[in-house]
Amino acid sequence: MQKINRVRTEIPGLDAIIGGGIPEGDLILLSGTCGTGKTIFGVEFLYFGKEPGFYITFEEHVSEIRNQASSFGWDLKKSEEKGILKITRYDPYKLEDILTMIENNIREINATRVVIDSVPSFAIHMRDESEVRRTLSEIYNILKKNNCTSIIISDSPTETKAISKFGVEEFILDGVIILRKILERNEYKRALNVWKMRLTAHSTKFHIYEINKRGLIVYPKKVVDFRNVQFFT
Ligand SMILES: Nc1ncnc2c1ncn2[C@@H]1O[C@H](COP(=O)(O)OP(=O)(O)O)[C@@H](O)[C@H]1O
Ligand SMILES: [Mg+2]
Repeated sequence: MQKINRVRTEIPGLDAIIGGGIPEGDLILLSGTCGTGKTIFGVEFLYFGKEPGFYITFEEHVSEIRNQASSFGWDLKKSEEKGILKITRYDPYKLEDILTMIENNIREINATRVVIDSVPSFAIHMRDESEVRRTLSEIYNILKKNNCTSIIISDSPTETKAISKFGVEEFILDGVIILRKILERNEYKRALNVWKMRLTAHSTKFHIYEINKRGLIVYPKKVVDFRNVQFFT
């Protein structure tokens, strides 16, 4: 059997539950409701990755992303100046050619890690599900062609069991990681689940994670006991 190369996410605790990392070149959907730490996760994946990374946001301004990162002591500006990180914001309404733009940015710094934040925000101007699906599959092809290991972010709607906003994202991707808020004994906790990871014997449990002064950290041994859960979103 051919050994597969894995790319460490460098998110503390996560690589341990996915067999050492994401299979190289794969595209992973990161899904969660508002405030679950998706943007932090994406930035952490690039900042601590030992290879050039490209972050494209259709949401916050770049300065807001840098600010939030600096609250964890991460100096994004320094990585950008070194040419190993690029953060770009695009207005989804002005989007001419998202595919060319992504590919040009990847080539500019030879990025092998990419984060796209997020599907709903770039799909906002699209006519229907089939256009979202087609664009996603074209993005997928570009990322594969350039050997990028990537994360694409999607909001999951609150109070439903759906993983992603359009319900189309998860079917064309190599992996899915879900971030949730769990109400347990009247306290909200954060929990992460690996829903799908190609070629990987991953954990299927919900693992507690935290966002603290050092960033997002997963606890492989702390798992959620759903008998105590009142509600989750
Ligand atoms: N310095 C910090 N220390 C602890 N928690 C933080 C810090 N900065 C942000 N957070 C937490 O992260 C959340 C925002 O994370 P973010 O990745 O922007 O969420 P989203 O999933 O909406 O992209 C905040 O609501 C807060 O709970
Ligand atoms: Mg965000």
